[in-house]
Amino acid sequence: MTGQTVAAADPYWNRYYNAEFEFGMGTEDVLAALSELPPVRRWCDLGAGSESLLWSIPLTADHLIAVDVDLDRLAILSRYAAQGQPRPAYTTVLRMCHRTAEDFTRRCRSLAGTLVADCLDGPPLALAPGSTDLVTQFGLLGLAETPEHFLDAWRRAHVPLAPGGWCAGANWVPEPSRQTGRVTLTQGLYRRAFADAGIHPHLLHRVASVDPQFPSLWLYTGRKQ
Ligand SMILES: C[S@@+](CC[C@H](N)C(=O)[O-])C[C@H]1O[C@@H](n2cnc3c(N)ncnc32)[C@H](O)[C@@H]1O
Repeated sequence: MTGQTVAAADPYWNRYYNAEFEFGMGTEDVLAALSELPPVRRWCDLGAGSESLLWSIPLTADHLIAVDVDLDRLAILSRYAAQGQPRPAYTTVLRMCHRTAEDFTRRCRSLAGTLVADCLDGPPLALAPGSTDLVTQFGLLGLAETPEHFLDAWRRAHVPLAPGGWCAGANWVPEPSRQTGRVTLTQGLYRRAFADAGIHPHLLHRVASVDPQFPSLWLYTGRKQ
């Protein structure tokens, strides 16, 4: 495993998307992009951590597999799904996306399984090619160390995507002193990654954020040819 996540499982769970929803951090832009995607049957969230249910709110997906290298984060996600009660920031997101508490319960039930796997290095994912209608990653591929590493991880991440299936994701750009060891994300790099994986980009842009540690993020959606 390479790449350093911003915080360990419990601190991350308590810091992000917890109490009040934090506007201006790019989350609302990601939610808006996801709300444009059509309903899908099978969704795979890579580097899911504890937060797949946040991104599930604007989506319509029947069957979610959450993949992460960290068992503790997936355990938090599974416990949260079993409880089925949105925390305050999630309640705001439900409102923003015009979803109800019942919608949230349905999304909790859609969590069909979790998978511990290294999505940046390691062997191919244990998901059959073409077995998924939507592949997402939020904050995973930006942990790659070099452009080649990013391209390789992107290619492997999208092998399970069926023809006609969708991908979506976001990668936060650290302020320069935190950039060490992370790939520099550029429009050109994403375009190359899309082309290599046979995916047509529908949306690709950089969004500003008020978070001083991560002042911008790249946001994309695309469809496999
Ligand atoms: C910035 S967090 C984002 C978590 C979540 N997707 C979200 O939106 O809040 C990055 C996530 O990637 C996971 N991760 C880091 N390296 C990984 C790897 N090599 N393979 C799979 N997951 C990894 C971390 O455990 C963490 O859950």
